[in-house]
Amino acid sequence: MNIKILSGVVASIAMLLPAMASGQTANFNIIPKPQKVEVAQSAAPFILDQNTCISIAKGNLKNNANMLAQYIEQATGLRPVVGKATKGGLTITLDIDKTISNAEGYTLKVDSKQIRICGATPAGVFYGIQTLRKSLPIVSGKAAKVEIPAVNITDAPRFAYRGTHLDVSRHFVPTDSIRTFIDMLALHNINRFHWHLTDDQGWRIEIKKYPLLTAVGSKRAQTVIGHNSGKYDGKPYGGFYTQKEIRDIVKYAADRYITIVPEIDLPGHMQAALAAYPDMGCTGGPYKVWEIWGVSDNVLCAGNDKTMKFIDDVLREVVGLFPSKYIHVGGDECPKTQWQKCPKCQARIKALHLEAKDGHTAEERLQSYVITHATKFLKSLGRNIIGWDEILEGGLADGATVMSWRGESGGIAAAKQNHDVIMTPNTYLYFDYYQSLDKANEPEAIGGYLPLERVYSYEPMPKELTSEEARHIIGVQANIWTEYMPTFKQIQYMALPRLAALSEVQWSQPELKNYKDFACRLIDLAQRYEQLGYNYAKHMYNVAINVDSDTKWQEDVVRLTTAGNAEIRYTLDGSMPTMSSALYTGPMHLQKSADIRAAAFRNGKRSNVISQSISFNKATTCPVTLLQPTHKSYTYEGATVLTDGIIGDAAYSTGRWLGFCGNDLEAVIDLKKPTDFSEVGFNTCVEKGSWVFDARGIEVSVSQDGKTFTTVATKALPAMEEKDANKIYNHQIDFTPTKARYIKVLVKSEHSIPAWHGGKGKPGFLFVDEICVK
Ligand code: ACM
Ligand code: ZN
Repeated sequence: MNIKILSGVVASIAMLLPAMASGQTANFNIIPKPQKVEVAQSAAPFILDQNTCISIAKGNLKNNANMLAQYIEQATGLRPVVGKATKGGLTITLDIDKTISNAEGYTLKVDSKQIRICGATPAGVFYGIQTLRKSLPIVSGKAAKVEIPAVNITDAPRFAYRGTHLDVSRHFVPTDSIRTFIDMLALHNINRFHWHLTDDQGWRIEIKKYPLLTAVGSKRAQTVIGHNSGKYDGKPYGGFYTQKEIRDIVKYAADRYITIVPEIDLPGHMQAALAAYPDMGCTGGPYKVWEIWGVSDNVLCAGNDKTMKFIDDVLREVVGLFPSKYIHVGGDECPKTQWQKCPKCQARIKALHLEAKDGHTAEERLQSYVITHATKFLKSLGRNIIGWDEILEGGLADGATVMSWRGESGGIAAAKQNHDVIMTPNTYLYFDYYQSLDKANEPEAIGGYLPLERVYSYEPMPKELTSEEARHIIGVQANIWTEYMPTFKQIQYMALPRLAALSEVQWSQPELKNYKDFACRLIDLAQRYEQLGYNYAKHMYNVAINVDSDTKWQEDVVRLTTAGNAEIRYTLDGSMPTMSSALYTGPMHLQKSADIRAAAFRNGKRSNVISQSISFNKATTCPVTLLQPTHKSYTYEGATVLTDGIIGDAAYSTGRWLGFCGNDLEAVIDLKKPTDFSEVGFNTCVEKGSWVFDARGIEVSVSQDGKTFTTVATKALPAMEEKDANKIYNHQIDFTPTKARYIKVLVKSEHSIPAWHGGKGKPGFLFVDEICVK
C-alpha cells in the first residue's frame, strides 16, 4: 500500500484545532462558498445579544424565523425573540425580494444597525439563514454578545437539484436519525433527499393495499457477514416506516426546503416484495427477503398483468405521500435471466413485437416497456419519473430524467437525447466507497476510493456537451448505499465531510472553487459538526500527499496539504517525522526514489503520519502516448499515471490505475535517449465481480524513431477462471538486451468475458499500473 496512516491517534479534535480567532466574532468563511462576499472592514459590526429580535417584513417566513432563532441559540446560547421588536435590541429582518432572479438566491446585509436577509422565495431566505448560521462562532454556554462584521453577501446556487441519496433497505434508518440526516443536508444547502425505500433486502414503506410488503417484506431472517462471506449473523433484522411517519418526515424536510424524492426500485431489486407476493415473480417463488448483498436474479415478472397493476397501486400510494414532482422508479441492475425463460415475459415480448435491434435485446426492450408503463401512469397523476442510467437501454421513456451513476456516459447520452440529467457518478460521488486507502483503520466499506479531494474536484458539466445540451444537466447528487453501514453513526462518518465537498460542487460557481481554501473553511464547519454531535471522518487533519509527474523536466512534483494552516513536517527516508523534521514550505521536485512521510502539527500535537513511496525506474517521468483510449471513467491524470513512480495498489478505482474496456493498453514511452533495457513489468488489478479481469497477452516492441517498431517479446495469457483470486497480478516479460529510445507496450484486455461469469461474451475491464522498464 502506498498511502498509509502509520501512527498516532487523533487525540482530541479540540487539541488540534486552532483557537477561534476571537471567541465571539462571526466570520463568513463558510461552506458552500457564496458567490460574492464583501466585508466592510472598517464599518462597525452588528452586535447580537440577548435583546436581538427577528422580524418578518413580508411573506410566509414564520417557519424561517423560528428556524433562525433555533440556529442562533444552538451556536451562541442566545435565543432571539421572533416577531416583536425588543427594547434596546437590534433586529434581523427577513424579507422577500422579487428582484432576485434565482428562486433560491438571497442577499444578506449586515451593518451596525440591522441584519437583512432577502430571498426571491422563502427557500432563498432559508439559504441566507444557513449562511448567517454558519458564520456564527460556536460558544460554549451563553454568549454575552457576538459581533457580526458588516458585510454584503449576494448568493445563488449553481444547480437547482442538489441531492443526496440514502439507502434504508440494506440497513434501516429510524425516523429520528432520518430527521438528523435531513438536518445534515440543510446544513449543506442540499434541497433533495432521494430516499431509497425498497430493495432485495427489505421493503421499508407501508403500502395499505399490499400489507404483506411490510409484514413480510420488511424482515429478513439474518444478514450475511462482510462481503458475502457465506457466514451469517443469525439475527432477524427489519424495520419500516408507517405512512404517518412518512408524512411527518416529508413535512420536516419541507420545513427545511428539502423535497424528498422517493424511490421504488423497479423491475429489479424486488426480491423483498416477491417474498411477500411471490406470484408477482417469473418463477412463482418461494422467495425470501434476501440475506446477502449483490443483485438478485429474482425480479418482477413483466409478462404478468397483475404485476403492472401492483406497480400502479404502489405508485398511487407513493404519490399520495410525497409531493415531489419526481418519483424515482429505479431501473438499475435488472438481470434478464428469468425473463429469457419465462413464458409470460416471452409472450409479452411477442405480443408487443419487442425485437432485438439497435444493440438492445428484446428483454431490454421489455424493461423499457415496464419503465414506460410506470412513466405514463405517473404522468396521469401529474408526476415525472427519474431512473438510473440503465433506463437508456431499450429506449428512454418520454419525459424521463436520468440519474447517471455508472460514470457520466449515461448522463451525456441522455442530455444528447434532450432528457434532463442528474449526475451522480460512482467515480466521484458514491459515499459508500472508502475515504482513505488505509483500509485497516477504516470501517469496512464496499470498496473503491473517493477521498475528499476527489469528491471536491468533480465538475458535473461534461465537456462533450454543447451549451444547449448542457442545460439538461440539472443537478448533482451523492449516493449512500448502506450494505456496510449498519448504524447511523457510520452513515454520518461516510457522509461527513464528503457532503461538504459535494455541497460546493452543487452550489458554488466553479471559478470560486479552490481545495486549499475549502480545506481551511472545513475546519470551521467541522467545529459545527462537533457541536451538533455529528460523527465525521477526520482524515482532513492529516497531510494529503499529491504527486504530479512532470515529463518535461522529468521529475515528480510533490505537494503536501492539510486542513487549515498547520505546520507540515516530512522526511524522505522513511523515518517518522517529528517537530524537528524538515518543514514543508512548497512543492518538492524529486528525481529519484523516496519514501515520503509527513504529518501536520497543531499545538505541538502530531497528526497521523501519512506515507507515500515513489519508485524510479528507466521509464519513470518519461512521456507516454496511448494509442488506444482509456475508459472515460478511469482516465484520471491520463497516460502519466503509468510512469509517475507511484505503484498502484489497494483497488482499481484509486486513481493509480488506468482502466480500459473494449480496448487494450497500448502505450509508447519516450525514454528521451537511447537506453539499454531487457525487461518490462507492470501490474494488473483484478476484481472479477466488477467485471475487472487480468490481461490476456503482452507484446513489447522498440523503436529508434518512434515510428517504426520491432517486436522484441510477446506472451499470451490464459482467460481467468472462476476460482482465480481477486488481487494484484504482477507481469514481467524479459527479452534480449536492447538499446532504443522508444518502447511500445501492448497489454491485451479480456475482450470476451468467459462463460462462467454473469458478463459472459461482453468485454471486461483491464486495470494496469506502473510500467517498469529495466
Ligand atoms: C446503483 O448504484 N445500482 C444505482
Ligand atoms: Zn416473467
